[in-house]
Amino acid sequence: MANALIVLAAGKGTRMNSDLPKVLHQVGRAPLVAHALAAGRALEPERIVVVTGHGAQQVQAAVEHWAPQAECVLQEEQLGTGHAVAQALPCLDGFDGRVIVLYGDTPFIRAETLERLSESDAAVTVLGFETEEPGRYGRLIASGPGLERIVEFKDASDEERAITLCNSGVIAADAVVLTELVQGLNNDNAAGEYYLTDIVAAARAKGMTAEVVTCDEEETLGINDRFELARAEDLFQDLCREEAFENGVSMVDPATVYFALDTFVGADVVIGPNVVFGTGVTVETGAVIEAFCHLEGCHISRGATVGPFARLRPGAELSEDVHVGNFVEIKNSVLAEGVKVGHLTYIGDADIGARTNIGAGTVTCNYDGVMKHRTTVGEDVFIGSDTMLVAPVTVGRGALTASGSVITGDVPSEALAVARAKQVNKPGLAAKLFAKLRAEKTRRAGKKG
Ligand code: UD1
Ligand code: CA
Repeated sequence: MANALIVLAAGKGTRMNSDLPKVLHQVGRAPLVAHALAAGRALEPERIVVVTGHGAQQVQAAVEHWAPQAECVLQEEQLGTGHAVAQALPCLDGFDGRVIVLYGDTPFIRAETLERLSESDAAVTVLGFETEEPGRYGRLIASGPGLERIVEFKDASDEERAITLCNSGVIAADAVVLTELVQGLNNDNAAGEYYLTDIVAAARAKGMTAEVVTCDEEETLGINDRFELARAEDLFQDLCREEAFENGVSMVDPATVYFALDTFVGADVVIGPNVVFGTGVTVETGAVIEAFCHLEGCHISRGATVGPFARLRPGAELSEDVHVGNFVEIKNSVLAEGVKVGHLTYIGDADIGARTNIGAGTVTCNYDGVMKHRTTVGEDVFIGSDTMLVAPVTVGRGALTASGSVITGDVPSEALAVARAKQVNKPGLAAKLFAKLRAEKTRRAGKKG
């Protein structure tokens, strides 16, 4: 059946004590709302609607980045989860499949769980969980899989508060049913809010079916304060490490490897200790990432080796069998097959041809203080150590630059470019100079004593 997704993300998150809307706080380098959208994406939803409120513009910008196909609607006043869903319904006009409502601050819902909700054939299906500490969660009044109603903590009797089957907040319903039920909600309750949860009792009153699907408590973990955010990061990293192991990745010291929401690492990749993935990294099968690397927005092809102590920044594209060694930074550059950049180098805004060797201490001088410029190096080039490549500049295939050169003009193919002062040797002068300096040192020591 066709699916649509509504993500509720209007809340302020008072307990975060932050200027940033709650759903924009990050776990795995991605805003919380991106996690909800990522879980929902597995349902291949026909439509995605995000309800924004606090910090709407910022939230919308994040949504556009992480799920460009999603629409945002503004809930000007937060009058409750039922009211929030009502704001989204106009965007689902004409859609008659299954609608799944989830929260933007609940990052661990698994795609498989959402699939179970989508596939349930009850008119309304609620994702519940058993917990030893039901706290202020809504309680599910159920018998077996059949659900009678949800009672909010504030409205619950002592007897109802003793129930340990709780509402995760994720609810699925057929679009037509959801529209009808949400339109019938009122705010006659302890919080004075339009509760989405009231649609369960409303459905039953109309003779429709309602069901509970359960999941692990861990999946429903919501984030309300900085402590929970830190705990969520911890949990997220553990889940990523587990998944990486399952996918055939080796990690020497997994607790020191940090992943982002969208990190992709292929089988047989070996990752050393203290490696940090920013967003947008893909590492293909068989690559090796040595200790202490920081990677972001880059693609590492099969057989490439990176680090130790390498930094790959956005737009770094390493083709097969490239070697990037220690204290090398690469940004917005394509390194063709077999390129070697072994030591102490900055490559920015460059195209480096296949098999080219970049000597230690090379710098692409890509920025003139106002604009960025590109460096193009052909295949089979040897860039001597400590070469400054002052962009825009091109070095032709098979060329060689002498160590210490400052290359400001293009180098033709197969040419040797020398761009440094000529060496002058002055016989005996070093010895004379040293003698003079030593004499001076002795004179000064004598004065002090
Ligand atoms: C809600 C559920 C409760 C459940 C709990 C799980 C209702 C009435 N109650 O309670 O049964 O156990 O979640 O965490 O649904 N939001 C909006 N607009 C609003 C109100 C809320 O977008 O007007 C968003 C919030 O940003 C948040 C989510 O909906 O992401 C849940 O709202 P919250 O106020 O935290 O609901 P709870 O009281 O926790
Ligand atoms: Ca909550």
